[in-house]
Amino acid sequence: MSTVGRRPKVPFWAVPVLVVLPVWAFIYIGTLRPAEPGSLRARGAEVYAAQCAACHGSQGEGAAAPAFDAGAVFQTWPSFEDHLEWVQLGGARWAERHGPTYGATATPVNGAAMPGFDGRLDDRDLVHVVLYERTVLAGTNPDAADDERLRNVVAAMDNDPSMTLEAAIHASADLPQPAP
Ligand code: HEC
Repeated sequence: MSTVGRRPKVPFWAVPVLVVLPVWAFIYIGTLRPAEPGSLRARGAEVYAAQCAACHGSQGEGAAAPAFDAGAVFQTWPSFEDHLEWVQLGGARWAERHGPTYGATATPVNGAAMPGFDGRLDDRDLVHVVLYERTVLAGTNPDAADDERLRNVVAAMDNDPSMTLEAAIHASADLPQPAP
């Protein structure tokens, strides 16, 4: 029998496969997406409890050191990059590099009262703890683009352990930003 001019028929058994395939693909792609914020924050909570809570309070309510709650973090640090640099350097090296005050509030640096963490925590833990302070302890970031960029940095470093902090920050700036 000639097949010229006839479209090959989809075999009967293939129909359920073709129906299920898009659903499967959707579920599969879902597993490749970066972890949801809940699990992103879990690492930051551990680091915070071990390294920061003694001075800043277990809920960021402040103790010997300033509080992070009620938006205070966003007034001092509108940009996550400056916040991150402060945690890396600590007060003493911050003052050497940037002068006697820190943050958008121009708060006076009290010597080495705040330790630097770049030698104690790896870059991945540093971004996790900054994310934790900015999303869990501080409330809602008024700058949605800044919030999105930090989440992208954390997700990029989690998805690719060879990714450097510098490369992750650079990549986050190139991604489309959410509408204001
Ligand atoms: C030994 C006590 C101590 C520890 C531990 C500590 N801090 Fe601090 N931190 C301070 C002090 C004190 C200040 C206030 C800075 C100053 O007076 O120079 C400060 C300030 C800050 C600020 C600026 C707050 C503001 O709005 O003024 C941030 C952010 C911060 N710390 C983050 C962290 C993080 C993240 C950790 C854990 C990785 C941490 N700190 C661990 C003592 C500490």
